[in-house]
Parts: sequence; structure tokens; C-alpha cells
Amino acid sequence: MSEENVKYLLPESDIPTHWVNLLPDLPGDPIPPLHPGTLQPAGPDDLAPLFPMALILQEVSPEPEIEIPEPVREVYKLWRPSPLFRARRLERELDTPAHIYYKYEGVSPAGSHKPNTAVAQAYENAQAGIKRLATETGAGQWGSALAFACSLFGLECEVFMVGSSYDQKPYRRSMMETWGATVHRSPSELTDSGRANEEHPTGSLGIAISEAVEVAASRDDTNYSLGSVLNHVCLHQTVIGQEAIAQMAMAGEQPDVVIGCVGGGSNFAGLTFPFIRDVLRSGAKTRFLAAEPAACPTLTRGVYRYDFGDTAGLTPLMPMYTLGHDFVPPPVHAGGLRYHGDAPMLCGLVRGGVVEARAYGQNETFEAAVRFARSEGIIPGPEPAHAIRAVLEEADAAKQAGEERVILLGLSGHGHFDLAAYDAFLAGRLEDPEFSAEDMEAALGRLPEAPAIA
Ligand SMILES: Cc1ncc(COP(=O)(O)O)c(C=O)c1O
Repeated sequence: MSEENVKYLLPESDIPTHWVNLLPDLPGDPIPPLHPGTLQPAGPDDLAPLFPMALILQEVSPEPEIEIPEPVREVYKLWRPSPLFRARRLERELDTPAHIYYKYEGVSPAGSHKPNTAVAQAYENAQAGIKRLATETGAGQWGSALAFACSLFGLECEVFMVGSSYDQKPYRRSMMETWGATVHRSPSELTDSGRANEEHPTGSLGIAISEAVEVAASRDDTNYSLGSVLNHVCLHQTVIGQEAIAQMAMAGEQPDVVIGCVGGGSNFAGLTFPFIRDVLRSGAKTRFLAAEPAACPTLTRGVYRYDFGDTAGLTPLMPMYTLGHDFVPPPVHAGGLRYHGDAPMLCGLVRGGVVEARAYGQNETFEAAVRFARSEGIIPGPEPAHAIRAVLEEADAAKQAGEERVILLGLSGHGHFDLAAYDAFLAGRLEDPEFSAEDMEAALGRLPEAPAIA
């Protein structure tokens, strides 16, 4: 057996004790969210009908680190620390001098990074005496994660699942039901927001969020839970990057470029923010590359404006790149990337030039995913497959330059529930749905009259 290391594993005692809050390190003053009715800066009290105060305080915290509650770390032990792999077989297959590493979050019970925040959110809601959580799910990954987390802390869980994913992935629904959740196809007949969107039967994350927020706002025993975008969600995911820093040190390397996919931005933030903090504090030269679908190109083609987080306009307005809150992206298989906006913190970093973004079509993405599966073995989720596409480009660039560049990939989840999409790709039936700039322009015309962002 060769002496070449493939896996870098940390003991349970190295599960991080704190989350990394990048907010105080960001240049300039934070840009506040706005109340959807008054368009005035939204404070903690405005969020109180939907979230427990502990999470609201994390959302606005000026502290650079926030302690992880012990019961949450106990649950993290079920799959954390997650492994870091050196993709030696992929490197050979690509004949590249690049050193490719990937941090694999598919080892969690739900199969993705989403439980890192679901567990923290379920815990804080249970502590606050809440009995039920309502949420949306795109790919089914977030709904599964929250269903799992609710089952651990004795909470009921109600999930609005985007119609196209509900149809493509029936076993994701079974998974959520196995953990005790109730799942509705969105748009549903159960809410005003669902009934108002009958003409969009494939649904969207924006519509499903409106449905879940409506349910949570109408019941005292029910809170809302979001799987991405918000500061506290990005915060919870920073266990990924902290572990990756320790594991890269074990490998004796520093990444030249860190690559992840972006739907709402949480796995990307989780992996990159601890590295970005080093860049902001000490001027390290690491590059950061965000990969998104060409059919829903928020960071690469959206506008930087205040917009609602949901279709119906129930959530606060956030400063972000957006395609327009009622833009309905075509039903690509990377359901988790079909979101009109992105995390405000990440958008600020893209705007400031710290993070680059690229968009990829569906077929080129699956081509990369199959290449990865045939060399590394793991069948990636369609969402991180976008990041793999970017890795192939970066590995090729290293080859052209003849340089041993170090690439770190966030492999946010497996694709075991996405085999219908692989099936279509392998049979040559996978489509490359067009992004409609016209639809985006129309949606942007319906943006709320909020102040421009300096
Ligand atoms: C495996 C996986 N990766 C990435 C995403 C995108 O979400 P985010 O950008 O918040 O990480 C999702 C969303 O469902 C997902 O399931």
C-alpha cells in the first residue's frame, strides 16, 4: 500500500466549540434588513413572531465567535467532524498538477450540510417552548434535515416542498415522513400564498417560503425555520470551514482557491467564511469561487438591491443580488439552487470582489458529476455538481499554467435521491433550460420601492 493519504479525519473532541461570525470582520457598516410594511430598518422585535430570541440575537450579533450549545455539539457527534478527502483519483483522471481536496458533508443523516443548522435551530426553538416548526424545502435536503432535527428535540415539523422536487423526488418525502414530518406539495391549497400561485404548478422556493411563513405567523405555537440565506444559518455552517482549516493543516497545505455551490449561500458561507476571515485579517491570498446554475444566475446576472426573501413579500427586505422575488426559475434538478436571492453577507463579498461567481448549464454540470463519481466513487448531489464543474476548470487552468495549485471543494451532499436526474442525463434526455432575461426584467420591475444601497 502506498503512503499516500486519502482521508484526513479529526476526532470527536475536535468538533468546533464556537461558530465563526464574519459580520464584525466585514468592511463598512452592516446594511440592515428592512421591515416589509414600513421599509424602516427591521430590529430584533420585528423578527420575534417567526424566530426564537436566541437565534435573532445570533442574527445580529457583533461577537466574532459564538459558543455552540453543548446539546448541539452532542448531536453533531453523530456525523461530525466530517471527512476531508484528497481526490487523488480525480487528479490522475484529469492529469492535472493541481492538488484537489474535498470536504464531504454527505455523511450527515440527511445526506447534506443542512443538519448543521437544523439541529441548532430545532434546539433553540425547543428551549423557547415552541412546539412546531414550519419550513420550505427545495431539493428536499433542508426539509429532511429539519425533520431529522425536530425528531431529536420533540418538535412537530410541517414542510412545504417545491412542486417540481415533490414530483421528482418522492423518496425525499418518505424520508421526512419517516422522521415524523408532515409534507405538502407547494403551491398548496392550504395558504393564501399557495392559492395565489396556482398558475406556477412547478412552484419555487420563494412561494414555498411564503406558505411556511404564513403558517408560522398565524399560530403562536409555531415558528418558522429557514435553511439558508440568513446570517444565523451561515453562522451555524461555519463548523465546516473550521474543521477544513484543521484538516488542510494535517495535509500540510493551504488552499489557493476554495470552491462551493450557491443556492442561498449557506454551505458556501460555512466552508469559506473561516478562510475569508483569515484573508480579511491577514491579507492571505486565497481565492473564493461560487458556482450557480445558468438557469438561476443570481450572483452573475442579478441586480444588487433590497428585495423580499419570499414571493409574497412577507419577509423583511434584504440587501442582496436578486432576480426578483417573484421570478420563478425553470425546474432544474438542482432544486436547492432555485432561489431568486442569496445571503446578504455573501452578496456583499461578491460585490466587494472577495468572492468570484460563475454559472453553469445543467448538462455540463452532470458531465462533471459523472466524471467525479467514476473516479472518486461518491455520487454528488446536483447542487455541489456545479462546484465540481468549477473544480474541473480550475484544475485545467493549473495544468495550462503548469502549477501545483491547491483546490478545496465543498461537497455539500450526495445525490442518492437525485438518480432520476442522473437517469435523464445518462439517457441523453436532460434539458438545458434557458434562463429568461425577459422574465427577470419583468420581475425586477416589481421590486419594492426601497432605498438604493450605497
Ligand atoms: C446538497 C445541497 N447543496 C447545496 C444546497 C444549496 O443551499 P445553500 O446555498 O444554502 O448551501 C442545497 C440546498 O438544498 C443542497 O441540498
